[in-house]
Amino acid sequence: MPDQLLDHVAADANAELAKVIDAIAKASIDIRLEFPYRMGIVEGGENKYGEQQLKLDAWTNEFLCDRMIETNLVKAVYSEELEQPETGLPDAPYIICMDPLDGSSNVKSNNSCGTIVSIYKNELGRGSEQVAALFKLYGPVTTLAYTVGKGTHQFIQQLKHDIGFVISQENMTLSATGGIYGIGGKKEEWNPKLRTFVEGLEPRGYKLRYSGSMVGDVNQVLHYGGLFAYPKPKLRLNYEAKPMAFLIEQAGGASTNGVQSLMEVLGDSVDARTPVFLGNKDLIKEIEKMNR
Ligand code: AHG
Ligand code: MN
Ligand code: MN
Repeated sequence: MPDQLLDHVAADANAELAKVIDAIAKASIDIRLEFPYRMGIVEGGENKYGEQQLKLDAWTNEFLCDRMIETNLVKAVYSEELEQPETGLPDAPYIICMDPLDGSSNVKSNNSCGTIVSIYKNELGRGSEQVAALFKLYGPVTTLAYTVGKGTHQFIQQLKHDIGFVISQENMTLSATGGIYGIGGKKEEWNPKLRTFVEGLEPRGYKLRYSGSMVGDVNQVLHYGGLFAYPKPKLRLNYEAKPMAFLIEQAGGASTNGVQSLMEVLGDSVDARTPVFLGNKDLIKEIEKMNR
């Protein structure tokens, strides 16, 4: 059976990008095999954001960097877990930004976590300059959603016959009705207008579902429609916000930092943080209007 993910990316983009995405996808088996051995073990250090680093954060970061660099197609990998980018061949075409293990505080309680990846050609740019974005969700099964700007597509890793990632949903589209919402942080950190807006969501039919991993929470919005937000600037612009904005916008949704699309925001550093709102276009418009 042909590899459906490899073929899909090659058809939508090109063989080189397909090779990079395939290497990231295939790393899932080893990453999942490490979970039981390293879950809950604290590395002892902190990452550059002053957050406690788990053994699993550090191991996943190193493992994924190696898989990316050894394609010889990746010039540099910027990561939430790295002080300085990991470098590959100087004339390799792609630059990567990643959150190797998103939702790592969910590992201890065996809730979902994932990997978020953003890919640029030649140099880092605005979100709208990404050539690809993807996330993997390590849930009961491993799923991978990717975009190269031609829709957002979901694949499921089939382990039984080791046939790789099989397409499960092409051209995902955010549902306009019956949505869910998940908002991180504390209400006291939100401005009064936002609090009123959020209180109005349930009367409008939205149901609360928040898991504490951005991958899991954004994935629910992709499947059911609605809103994911983290209003306090905690999430990382390059490693989390821009790739997820690309995936949501390619599924017919929208993104904002409260004022403008996350696809257009220029952070003041590669490690910048930002407020994040992702979801149905009408909700994102209301949030931007409220802030004018
Ligand atoms: P990470 O595990 O990469 O540090 O990311 C955690 C992020 C994100 O996954 C999630 O949306 C949010 O932080 C959860 O924060 P709270 O624990 O404050 O809900
Ligand atoms: Mn994260
Ligand atoms: Mn992380």
